[in-house]
Amino acid sequence: MSRSFADLFSREPQVRADAPGRVNLIGEHTDYSGGFVLPLAIPQRTRVELAPREDRLVRAWSANMKGTEIEEFQLGEERPGRGWLDYVQGITQAAQRAGHALQGFDLRIESDVPPGGGLSSSAALEISVLRALREAFHLEMDDVQMALAGQKAENDFVGAPVGIMDQMASNLADETTALFLDTRTLSYEKVPLPAEAELVVINSGISHRNAGGEYRVRRQECERAAELLGIHQLGELSKQDLWRIPSLPEPLDRRARHVITENTRVRCAVSALRENDLPRLGKLLCASHESLRDDYQVSIPEIDRLVELAREEPDVYGARITGGGFGGSIVILARRGAGRQAGDRVVARYEDETGEDGTVLVPAPVTP
Ligand code: GLA
Repeated sequence: MSRSFADLFSREPQVRADAPGRVNLIGEHTDYSGGFVLPLAIPQRTRVELAPREDRLVRAWSANMKGTEIEEFQLGEERPGRGWLDYVQGITQAAQRAGHALQGFDLRIESDVPPGGGLSSSAALEISVLRALREAFHLEMDDVQMALAGQKAENDFVGAPVGIMDQMASNLADETTALFLDTRTLSYEKVPLPAEAELVVINSGISHRNAGGEYRVRRQECERAAELLGIHQLGELSKQDLWRIPSLPEPLDRRARHVITENTRVRCAVSALRENDLPRLGKLLCASHESLRDDYQVSIPEIDRLVELAREEPDVYGARITGGGFGGSIVILARRGAGRQAGDRVVARYEDETGEDGTVLVPAPVTP
């Protein structure tokens, strides 16, 4: 049962903030190797309400956790191991460690970003809480510092070794302009989606399996491949360096090949966007999927099937897995106006064949 802020804390909230989930168009599993990414925001968001307190107690409640009680912790005494509350504790710890003075607060959280869908529900939570804290306590944090604080919370407190893409996307991207981000320097440019293009996002209904463990393994493999090649990060390599890949042992050769070719694809995707060349952009998405499936090995058969079904649609230019992988969602590049119907047909066939529960998340259903 959903409860209002007033019902939970017997007073009104002082600050309201929100932040979106993201879909990555292309540039997958490159952000912890210093590569390029190209995410956009999705309409699904996490919304928070907050009221400061005079003491150092934090009380938090999430509408998404059925039947949950109000959780509590003291600032400065954050301890991991408390589920969704770890994201809130991680944020207060990261903000305090960065020298920001906080007071206690009451917090209500509500989100329609599906967890485990590969659409950054965690970054949406981190950034929405940071936005509320920034306003409530007048914190001097710019957009990039906020994203870094979100990543720190996740890396150091939650224990997920993620890159910086999701927090940057949640804080800086919007729904119609892709964020072309260089994850090495954190410099970025906004690249608009052509008017003739429409993105469709389908959740496979399969929450990323083993994501934690496998994600960490991929990251370690990239670090080891870079070490063997005598470089700092794989993102330093370009197409001209592909000849060096066969010197690496299996599966490090495949992992490195994915990062190099994916980085090239992101640059090509940005030119395709600027030139309005949707067929070319679609081919790049398909090539990215194949590389993630065969070289990086982060896809699963159900997701491969969704991508195949999408590619059979006449108004679809290309499709691929998006996010961390091992389940989650796919992104489809379709002709504007045709996306919703194509997505609905793909989901119907997918459900028939696999018995899984697929959902078209973007574009939102047309309300009569
Ligand atoms: C997750 C991580 C990101 C990124 C993607 C894969 O979403 O949070 O940092 O590594 O996986 O591209």
